[in-house]
Amino acid sequence: MKYQDLQIVTIDLADRSYHIAIRSSMFDNSLSYLELPHTGAAMIVTNTTVGPLYAHRLHKALVSQYEKVHAIELPDGEEFKTWQSLNLIFDALLLHGCDRNTTLFALGGGVVGDMTGFAAACYMRGVPFVQVPTTLLAQVDSSVGGKTAINHPLGKNMIGAFYQPIKVVCDLGTLKTLPQKELIAGLAEVIKYGPIADMEFLAWIEANLDAILARDPTALAYIVKRSCEIKAWVVGQDERESGLRAILNFGHTFGHAIEAGLGFGVWLHGEAVACGMVMAAQLSARLGLADAFFVNRLTHLIQKAGLPIKAPVLQQEDNASRYLELMRLDKKAKAGDIQFVLIDKPGSAVVRNAPEAMVRHVIDACCAL
Ligand code: NAD
Ligand code: GLY
Repeated sequence: MKYQDLQIVTIDLADRSYHIAIRSSMFDNSLSYLELPHTGAAMIVTNTTVGPLYAHRLHKALVSQYEKVHAIELPDGEEFKTWQSLNLIFDALLLHGCDRNTTLFALGGGVVGDMTGFAAACYMRGVPFVQVPTTLLAQVDSSVGGKTAINHPLGKNMIGAFYQPIKVVCDLGTLKTLPQKELIAGLAEVIKYGPIADMEFLAWIEANLDAILARDPTALAYIVKRSCEIKAWVVGQDERESGLRAILNFGHTFGHAIEAGLGFGVWLHGEAVACGMVMAAQLSARLGLADAFFVNRLTHLIQKAGLPIKAPVLQQEDNASRYLELMRLDKKAKAGDIQFVLIDKPGSAVVRNAPEAMVRHVIDACCAL
């Protein structure tokens, strides 16, 4: 596969199906948006970091196709994934007199994408939106599949909607300006796809880790495409997470507790997921599912990628209870019974509960690594 080639992955959801286009030098080309409906205005939603880098180029690409092109820059950071920021989008839409034919363009990482998607789901009861993801994490995961949300002080992504974009434009060229720490955080969600669905992919990541970290264009193109294919396969079968889709949350039950417990933005989402995968793998082994060889292999890869494997202490006194308290708020929990995504046979995941004493052991062990 040559990185210059246009790759298309389709999310197959009947009348809500859409394409993910993957290539370099694409987001600022009007041809990338030609097949979309162009009946009204466009609103670019971005943030104060990505906007100055890329918004003017997207604006140029859209201006010939839409009646008007507006833009709004939100404050940058997970701690701003809030009602207040969401309201800034509604304010801008209303102030510009945007009607229900307006298309929103989410230009940025997962935070901008999740908030723009949620705004699109709500504004005038639903307007179309396009994802233009500019982080590795957003290209391999958050821009695809229609989960949109904001955080609540008590829990991560607690307020949101399932709402699919009409297209995803993954321009690999935008990754050139991404800080290395963010690239590495995105790699956590790439690694995730191995244990839950494709161990050959995990082996490929292990073998090509240096190239990925050095941003070899062909390596990046491959991991984005393969991740999108796996996510498309899962979402195509279970859009609203009534079953299978939960496997995409491997590492997230512990990870979300880390993010909420430390305060949003203290650890990056991908860092928390990486550490959460180590914890979930350990829990899998304690339950007699995955073996120690798998746990060590995954832990080694996560560490070699530059991601954290040692869990943070969320509270000095009775730290495990604080983790449990936060995890009981997880969206998968059933009447306070925490459901974990665990690795059974590497390459396949199961969702189940675990004895509290065992979970406490894992938390203590991972905080002491
Ligand atoms: P992010 O959106 O905060 O972006 C990371 C940082 O990189 C930000 O400071 C951003 O301004 C900056 N940035 C973005 N693109 C850049 C570029 N090309 N060059 C320079 N800087 C750039 O974080 P993220 O990791 O992209 O996304 C994390 C969010 O995604 C979390 O809120 C998480 O809950 C969500 N998420 C959602 C889903 C889903 O299915 N909807 C899946 C995974 C994660
Ligand atoms: N990132 C989890 C999901 O899309 O379901």
